[in-house]
Amino acid sequence: MPEDFPRPEEPFRLFFRAALLEWSRQHPRPMPWKGEKDPYRIWLSEIILQQTRVEQGLPYYEKFVRHYPTVQQLADAPEDQVLKDWEGLGYYSRARNLHAAARYVAHHLNGKFPDTYEAIRLLKGVGPYTAAAIASFGFGLPHAVLDGNVYRVLARIFGIDTPIDTPKAQKQFATLAGAMLDPDAPAAYNQAMMDFGALCCTPSQPACRECPFRDDCVARQQNRVNELPKKQKGLTRKKRTFHYLVIRHQEHWFVRKRMGKDIWKGLWEFPFSENDVPEVLLSFEPKSVSAPVRQLLTHQEITAIFYELEFPDALPTEIQQCPLLEDCRLVTLSELKKNIAFPKVIDCFLQSKVLTLN
Ligand code: ADE
Repeated sequence: MPEDFPRPEEPFRLFFRAALLEWSRQHPRPMPWKGEKDPYRIWLSEIILQQTRVEQGLPYYEKFVRHYPTVQQLADAPEDQVLKDWEGLGYYSRARNLHAAARYVAHHLNGKFPDTYEAIRLLKGVGPYTAAAIASFGFGLPHAVLDGNVYRVLARIFGIDTPIDTPKAQKQFATLAGAMLDPDAPAAYNQAMMDFGALCCTPSQPACRECPFRDDCVARQQNRVNELPKKQKGLTRKKRTFHYLVIRHQEHWFVRKRMGKDIWKGLWEFPFSENDVPEVLLSFEPKSVSAPVRQLLTHQEITAIFYELEFPDALPTEIQQCPLLEDCRLVTLSELKKNIAFPKVIDCFLQSKVLTLN
């Protein structure tokens, strides 16, 4: 297929829509937000599902609907509580943006969720994909969603080589996705595309034999199903090591809230130094040193090591004056567990410690 391929012919578009919707009827995939008409709940589900598998996101969706049934209730909640409810889901900027957008809708739009693609797109954390999903599912507007599933399905069926992580591909695929969309049933069509990509045209071992497009699929005709879609760059991750000081003073632990522009902003943490072992460890023998805990983020590989220090009596001056402890608060074990949200590496460490920290 040439790089700037022509708009697919009308008969093929009609066939594609009908076959896709028929496939979807034959492969029902019940999810609590399907058929949901409240745009607030659709928005919640779509933000939760960004970069997240459906099975992983489901319990969070249910928790958020329970804790915050309306946009007003989400807006009224403190940010720390929203982050605590998000704990374990990752990509925390989603939770901060969700909360900021809820406040915007509550305070500036009179609590009424925006009802055009352009106005939805203005909400923090809402990109073209999420705006199209909310516009189509919530308001029946004819905007095609373009997520990883849709890129894959289109790249294969039309045999498109353009690397999907380029601006050129974004334009090309957006035009094609818009041409394929069923203007009479945008919600059903978009949902069917995503389900088809998730269940049939999967990244590895797609079910080509059961695919309604097996005779039309260019990738299949050219035996290139596993090559498409193409990507330009392989992912490289920056390696960082965090040496955490888990300092217990009587029944309290030193923690602080992360600020600034780095990862995990708004979450809590133990004081730490990055890459070099903290100098205070020259003065005190830790009670224990953990095995390294690793966490992969999209662009970073984090290794965390935890050093437990215990001071049952007065705090030594080296600790009181330790610059790493600036801005720290002392909290009890129950606050540590119930009220404050930690990044996953710290949660993993704490879970391995449930017994011994008591
Ligand atoms: N991923 C993101 N949104 C989705 C939806 N509405 N259905 C299935 N998977 C999704």
